[in-house]
Amino acid sequence: MSREINTVGVVGLGTMGAGIVEVFARSGIDVVAVEVAEAALDRGQATLVGSIDRAVAKGKLTPEERDEIFARVGFAVGFEALHDVDLVIEAVPEQLPLKQRIFAELDRVCKPDAILATNTSSLSVTEISVATSRPNQVIGVHFFNPAPVMKLVEIVRTVVTAADVVADVEALCARLGKTDVTINDRAGFIANALLFGYLNQAVSMLEARYATREDIDAAMRLGCGLPMGPLALMDLIGIDTAYEILDTMYRRGGRDRRHAPVPLIKQMVTAGLLGRKTGRGFYTYE
Ligand code: CAA
Repeated sequence: MSREINTVGVVGLGTMGAGIVEVFARSGIDVVAVEVAEAALDRGQATLVGSIDRAVAKGKLTPEERDEIFARVGFAVGFEALHDVDLVIEAVPEQLPLKQRIFAELDRVCKPDAILATNTSSLSVTEISVATSRPNQVIGVHFFNPAPVMKLVEIVRTVVTAADVVADVEALCARLGKTDVTINDRAGFIANALLFGYLNQAVSMLEARYATREDIDAAMRLGCGLPMGPLALMDLIGIDTAYEILDTMYRRGGRDRRHAPVPLIKQMVTAGLLGRKTGRGFYTYE
């Protein structure tokens, strides 16, 4: 039986969560955007406003369209605001105990037929799903950064995800104008399983002083036609997020050396050099 998905909830308004809110609101779908504290909510709201205002300044959206988009988004602190949404996407940091706590809470608050989705990029959707009493309605819906721009969504079904839940999410992705690929629950899914060994290797080259950051990035942009070099891409993803993804894939993926995080990555995380979001990573940003 297919559900009508008219209102979605987004939990966590960091880089990915705020981008996902924008994707839904720009596609005409009502969104309830939730954070755990006012300060984080304000930051998420500012990210959304900044992105939409840039689109207006470029002439991609009219001021009327901007107002319609903002009218579709409700902001709230706490999970209770999600009691009536048809689907929730969780986009909090990549830590299993945190996600499990949130899913237990979503299970308590959300209506019985609501779909509970995680934007995890490397954790086990199955392990997240068993924190609820409805693992058959739990699914991975993995967007790429920047979510409003990147066309792909990886849909991750577990061994117990119901077929109608997969079909409903596939239909939703089509409404968002995204292309989806539906896969089973494996560390890193398709894209990150292929991407992160390469990113780790690029940092290793820099750490060994084999090449400069500019040369590594230029080689991949100009020699291989990629839109960004690997170090600039890691700054976009966030060095902390990249570390968590590599570490999880290393541990879940049979300790493949390609995914053992290069020491420099951990050092940068400890020093607070997290990439664009903190103004400094491999490069410096205004
Ligand atoms: N939010 C919203 N829109 C954004 C944006 C953002 N953060 N960043 C860029 N855009 C939009 C711009 O507004 C612009 O839109 P218009 O064409 O409508 O004007 C468009 O994207 C192009 O942007 P720019 O002209 O500023 O810059 P660009 O052409 O260099 O593109 C880029 C920027 C889209 C980020 C491009 O460099 C790119 O595709 N990079 C690779 C990104 C990538 O590989 N992402 C996947 C990361 S892995 C991941 O996400 C998985 C995970 O789990 C970590």
